[in-house]
Amino acid sequence: MTKPAMRVAVTGAAGQIGYSLLFRIANGDMLGKDQPVILQLLDITPALPAVKGVVMELEDCAFPLLQGVVVTDDPNVAFKDVDCALLVGARPRSKGMERKDLLEANGAIFTVQGKALNDHAKRDVKVLVVGNPANTNAYIAQQSAPDLDPNCFTSMLRLDHNRALSQIAAKTGKPVSSIEKLCVWGNHSPTMYADYRFATIDGKSVKDMINDHDWNANTFLPTVGKRGAAIIEARGLSSAASAANAAIDHVRDWVLGTNGKWVTMGIPSDGSYGIPEKTQFGFPVTCANGKFEIVKGLEIDAFSQERINVTLDELMGEREGVKHLLGK
Ligand code: NAD
Ligand code: LMR
Repeated sequence: MTKPAMRVAVTGAAGQIGYSLLFRIANGDMLGKDQPVILQLLDITPALPAVKGVVMELEDCAFPLLQGVVVTDDPNVAFKDVDCALLVGARPRSKGMERKDLLEANGAIFTVQGKALNDHAKRDVKVLVVGNPANTNAYIAQQSAPDLDPNCFTSMLRLDHNRALSQIAAKTGKPVSSIEKLCVWGNHSPTMYADYRFATIDGKSVKDMINDHDWNANTFLPTVGKRGAAIIEARGLSSAASAANAAIDHVRDWVLGTNGKWVTMGIPSDGSYGIPEKTQFGFPVTCANGKFEIVKGLEIDAFSQERINVTLDELMGEREGVKHLLGK
């Protein structure tokens, strides 16, 4: 029997990530090959003609799972009854800009969208914020939606997680698929802390296999942390297909579960590992039955604590910088 369609809102639908993302959602890569979807696409008014062009292309793919498409410049329409919302729409960073430069430009978007989600989305909506600065935007949206469970709101650290997987696969010569128990702590920014201390490949410790603290501190972490900037430098545009891919991975795992495997999600802290409650922070999680759960009880050594403190301090600074948007 055919399942009822799930409504998926995507903001910034005319943008470059949107162009990689929408076709994969409509193809069943995110919610399953047996799950019909209705896409609810939001962009600003001047971008609507471009969104309509993308919709023509979606139609021309004749995706069997795509049951409808809504195009709008009104968040109240875009988020009506949605099961999932991917908040991509925001101004991307250009050469020389840091994420904090985006705070002011993009923060205001997320108060409006948080409120619209609060008023119109399903009560168990799964929201993923991709638009940068992703953690703080997710925090703003969550704070603007007092009637929704804070755990409806997540932010994207999965691209950092996937980047880290790829670097470790290259270093060890082992396939990406063999690496388990990797995680990325903190902010989606160069301060993130990709942590392979608990990671295993075929049951063996990745830390022991690599056994090179200098590589960790001076090659691996800077490579993963500065990857976004390296892509902007090389392409003249920020990452798009890999960001869309990470968004698909994040929502798929949240909705369909991880079978006990660890993944990284930016989620509102429950106070674990000393991270203040509600801070949108990258944690190792497992997902089952549509819910995520933080992997608890991991030992945090001195080097890791120092890295976690740096990324947390940055997030606290960002939060301070958007207080005025939240009337605090
Ligand atoms: P883009 O400029 O190609 O597209 C952004 C789209 O958002 C445009 O169509 C724009 O009109 C739209 N938009 C702007 N304001 C809007 C609003 N208020 N409501 C709805 N739509 C709005 O940018 P992109 O390359 O697709 O990137 C989008 C965002 O994703 C950027 O903030 C970028 O920095 C971020 N990003 C995040 C990650 C991550 O890992 N978290 C990775 C890559 C990019
Ligand atoms: C990325 O990590 O590729 C994106 O967040 C884009 C950026 O500004 O770094």
